[in-house]
Amino acid sequence: MSPMRLKWIYSGVLAVFCLTAAVWIFRSGRMLQAGSQTYPLVKLSVKPSVRPYVKPTVPQNTSGFTVLKGEPASLVEVNGSRTLLISAYLEHRAKPKKVLVIAMRLRNEKVTLQCNLVCEEKFYVFKAATEIHGDHFGFPYGTADISCPLPSGCETPTHVAITSADMENGDPNDLKFLEVRNQRAQTSFPYTFTSCFSTMYNFTNVLQLVQSLEMLQFMGVNRVAIYKTNCSADTQRVLDYYTEKGLVEVIPWSLSKYLNVSRRALPKQDPGDIHYFGQIPALNDCLYRYMYRSKYVAMHDPDELILPQSVNSWVELLLLLEKRYGADKCYMFENNWVPIEFALTPPPPQTLPQQDQWQNISGVNILNHLYKEPPKRVFNNFKIITNPRSVSTVTVHGVLKSQRGCTWTDKNIARMYHIKPRGQTEWKPEQLIYDGRLLSYSAHLAPAVDVVLRDTGLLPEDSLS
Ligand SMILES: *[C@@H]1O[C@H](CO)[C@@H](O)[C@H](O)[C@H]1NC(C)=O
Ligand SMILES: *[C@@H]1O[C@H](CO)[C@@H](O)[C@H](O)[C@H]1NC(C)=O
Ligand SMILES: *[C@@H]1O[C@H](CO)[C@@H](O)[C@H](O)[C@H]1NC(C)=O
Ligand SMILES: *[C@@H]1O[C@H](CO)[C@@H](O)[C@H](O)[C@H]1NC(C)=O
Ligand SMILES: *[C@@H]1O[C@H](CO)[C@@H](O)[C@H](O)[C@H]1NC(C)=O
Repeated sequence: MSPMRLKWIYSGVLAVFCLTAAVWIFRSGRMLQAGSQTYPLVKLSVKPSVRPYVKPTVPQNTSGFTVLKGEPASLVEVNGSRTLLISAYLEHRAKPKKVLVIAMRLRNEKVTLQCNLVCEEKFYVFKAATEIHGDHFGFPYGTADISCPLPSGCETPTHVAITSADMENGDPNDLKFLEVRNQRAQTSFPYTFTSCFSTMYNFTNVLQLVQSLEMLQFMGVNRVAIYKTNCSADTQRVLDYYTEKGLVEVIPWSLSKYLNVSRRALPKQDPGDIHYFGQIPALNDCLYRYMYRSKYVAMHDPDELILPQSVNSWVELLLLLEKRYGADKCYMFENNWVPIEFALTPPPPQTLPQQDQWQNISGVNILNHLYKEPPKRVFNNFKIITNPRSVSTVTVHGVLKSQRGCTWTDKNIARMYHIKPRGQTEWKPEQLIYDGRLLSYSAHLAPAVDVVLRDTGLLPEDSLS
C-alpha cells in the first residue's frame, strides 16, 4: 500500500473517531449539564451562582418582585431575545429532573438563555438548554422547550425566570417569574378524561359547542381545557356556564400583542410568525397542565367527536384499547369528514329527532349531519387520546416524543367524526356514506342540550323539549 493511501486511511479513521467521540459527548449530555463544572456560563461564574433569596413568600408585587401564576394570560417576553414564555412545569421524568419552560421562539435566533431558579430559598443562575420542536411548518417561530436541570441541592424549585445571558444580570427582584407547576408526580387524578381544545378564535358555533360538550360528558370526559382567543357573547355565556359547573377551564390565549399569528397551517397560505394561532404550544401546555390531574388526555377540536362503535363511552373504549393494543400508548382515531353542506335524512326506519327549538341558536346541529365522505387513511388524518404521562411532546396530530408511541385503532372499535363545512368537496351527495352512530345518543343528547340552552338563557324558560 502506498504511503499516500495509508495517510488517507489514517485520517479517515481519525475523523470517524473524533466524530464518534463528539456524538458520544453530546448524546451523553456532557455539554448540557447545568450546575456542573463543565458548563460554560456567559458572564456568569462557572458554577451556578447561589445567592440568598430575598423574598421567599409570593406574590410580593409591591417590592417589584413579579410572580406570574403560570397562566398563558401572562405571556412573558424575554428581554433581549425573541422568545415568549408560556408556562413552567417540573419534569419529573427527566434524568436529572428539570424545570421545563414551554415557549415560542424565533427559530434561527442564537441568543443564549439562562435559568433563574428559585429553589428552597436559594437563587440559582445558570445556562438554559433550548430545543425547538420539529413541527413548525416552516414558520419563523417554533415551539421551544427551555430546560433548566435542577442543580444539586435543589429538589423543589418553585419559580423560574428565563433571561437572555447577554443582558445585564440585575436585581432578581426585577425579574418576571413563572410559577413552576406539577410540583408532585401524582398517581391518582381528579379527572378521568380531559379534552384539550386548542385555539378558539372568532368562535360563534354555539349549538355545536354545547352538543360536543354534552357528548363528551356522555363519553366520560370531566374536564375540557379551552385555549381561547375570542368568541361571541353567546359562546361566552356557554363557557361561563360550564366553567361554573367545573367542566371547562378557559385559558386566555391572545398572542397577537406579541406575534403575528397565522390563521393557516402553512406560511404560503397565510404568512405570519407562528403556525395556526399558536396551536402547537397550546397543546403542549395542555399536556403538561393535565399530566398529573387527568388519567387520559384527548387532543381534538370542538367539531371533532371520537365515538366508540361497540361500547358507549370512552371509559369502556379505553379498556378495549388497552387490552388490544397495550397500555400507555397514544391511540389514534381515524378522521371521517362529515361535510355540513349535505343534510340528508337517514334511511328508514331511523328518523331524526325533532329539534325545531334550536332554530334560533347560532351554529351547526350535528344531529342533522350523518353522511360522511369515504374515509382515507392519510398520515395526518387522525386525533389522539393518550396517557399524558407517557408523552413528552405533542403536535397537531399525534405525538413527537413518547415512551410507547402511537397506534392506529380499528375503525370498528372507534371513529372520529369531523363535522364542519368542507367548502369545495370532491364528493357528490350520492357518494357520501350514511353513518348513524350519533343517533344512538340523540335521545339523551337533545334534552341535555335543551337544559344547557335554557340555563344559559339562550332558550326561553318555557320552551319545549
Ligand atoms: C431590557 O434590557 C435593557 C438592557 O439591559 C434594559 O435597559 C431594559 O430596561 C430592559 N427592559 C425590560 C423590560 O426589562
Ligand atoms: C368571524 O367569523 C364570521 C362568521 O362566523 C366571519 O364573517 C368573519 O369574517 C370572521 N372574522 C374574522 C376576523 O375572522
Ligand atoms: C375576534 O377578533 C377579531 C380580530 O380582533 C375580530 O375581527 C372578530 O370580530 C372577533 N370575533 C368575535 C366573535 O368577537
Ligand atoms: C405584525 O406585522 C406587521 C407588518 O409586518 C408589523 O408592522 C407588526 O409590528 C407585527 N406585529 C407584531 C406583534 O409582531
Ligand atoms: C325564532 O325567532 C323568531 C323571530 O324572532 C321567532 O318568531 C321564533 O318563535 C323563534 N323560534 C324559536 C323556536 O324560539
